[in-house]
Amino acid sequence: MTTSLTLRRPDDWHLHLRDGAMLQGILPETARHFARAIVMPNLVPPVVTGAQAAAYRDRILAALPDGMAFEPLMTLYLTEETDPADVAAAHASGLVKAVKLYPAGATTNSASGVTDFEKVRGVLEKMAEIGLPLCVHGEVVDADVDIFDREAVFIDTVLDPIRRATPGLRVVMEHITTAEGAAYAQSGGPDLGATITTHHLVINRNHILVGGIKPHYYCLPVAKREHHRLALRAAATSGLPCFFLGTDSAPHADPAKESACGCAGCFTATNTMSILAHVFEEDGALDKLERFTSLNGPAFYDLPANDARLTLERGGPVTYPDKIDTGAGTVTVFDPGFALHWHVKP
Ligand code: DOR
Ligand code: ZN
Repeated sequence: MTTSLTLRRPDDWHLHLRDGAMLQGILPETARHFARAIVMPNLVPPVVTGAQAAAYRDRILAALPDGMAFEPLMTLYLTEETDPADVAAAHASGLVKAVKLYPAGATTNSASGVTDFEKVRGVLEKMAEIGLPLCVHGEVVDADVDIFDREAVFIDTVLDPIRRATPGLRVVMEHITTAEGAAYAQSGGPDLGATITTHHLVINRNHILVGGIKPHYYCLPVAKREHHRLALRAAATSGLPCFFLGTDSAPHADPAKESACGCAGCFTATNTMSILAHVFEEDGALDKLERFTSLNGPAFYDLPANDARLTLERGGPVTYPDKIDTGAGTVTVFDPGFALHWHVKP
């Protein structure tokens, strides 16, 4: 049995770091294990311009504890007013690594997102020209589309038409949750990638709903049926270059989750590497873990893999705090529902 595994240091290709006291409280949870992360721009107000992204980057670096190394890879929030020239300048300066598309109303802080995709055509064409990836929250928001179907409908009615209309546009399907999502990503060639979260490899919709509502398992896109979870496991452990880790670790203070109208988001930054080692071991794919966490993402984003290494060791049960205390309230750490035996060597 493998009991030690050394990988290139991992990166997180989809992460919510928030701002202020919450940022301060949760940033070490990611920086402890991850070298870099694509940082989501859905603050209130959102990070729309290059100047706002530069200021947010400075706040993240200021919140980093002494002695920790971490590189935030910044993104811009696409609105119908986004200026293609500002996007191009933010990319040319090296500051911005992707633009994030939220369909308006799809998820947390998405009100400024896109309703009329014609209005962002100019930005998308500029991005295709300069090779700047578009990260996509892939769910339609139509009231008459069932929430469990929203990803598959988005692929057919929004994503595929956008990709056909914009040759050369590089796209990351963020946090895919369905067999359809995995199949589409796999068929899309080198300009298409997909991130997969830790929690979608572990939970299906029963975990959220059976035996009482579990607000800490609620996220968007919502976890689907078991056969979709198994398709995501097969994708993540395949080693295929289009699939890489994006945890979508999304902290909300406990009262905002444990509420009559609870926020979407699972906070997995703290124990993600332990959970992933467990999952990959269970599927006989520990040899593919490094591709998923540390190699495929940099290759898609045209960045070098990290030189530093991270070692995972298998031993007795490893425990993590149930909650992280932040100046903005406590945040519950994702509970995978099974004992963890892999820990990151300090
Ligand atoms: O579960 C989610 N939480 N999904 C998202 O798309 C947004 C995120 C958040 O910002 O809390
Ligand atoms: Zn997200």
